[in-house]
Amino acid sequence: MPTHSSIRARSIPTDRKPPVLICSCAVISDQDIELAVLEIMSQPGAPLPTPGVVWRHLSKKMNCCGCAPLAVSVIYEKMESLQAKGLISPCACAQALERLVRLDRANKAKQRRSSTTRQAPPSVDEEFPLLAAE
Ligand code: FES
Repeated sequence: MPTHSSIRARSIPTDRKPPVLICSCAVISDQDIELAVLEIMSQPGAPLPTPGVVWRHLSKKMNCCGCAPLAVSVIYEKMESLQAKGLISPCACAQALERLVRLDRANKAKQRRSSTTRQAPPSVDEEFPLLAAE
């Protein structure tokens, strides 16, 4: 009869690290994000893989948005990793990153404009503009 440790050893490939929980509300790991990014970026006319796009692809919803900054960094880390492995096209990555840069510039400009005229704290959409993209 296999022991718990022998089952675990067989279920995790030796070249992969154990999954890291990124979103505790929706129970999404870095490996879930990697697979979702691969599937999203393999589509023709791939959308910008924002956390909102990735969570929807996984049929999940963001709840508290506390994971959003980490999710953004994991998504782009996985994009670079998948591109380096040749699993997604450099062209699709370049287009997505170009759109991300434009979106980031527009969001920063919007935040600068609103910070000079508004005293109230930012809404979730304003604080995490990448969640609202696409
Ligand atoms: S930790 Fe991801 S939505 Fe709450």
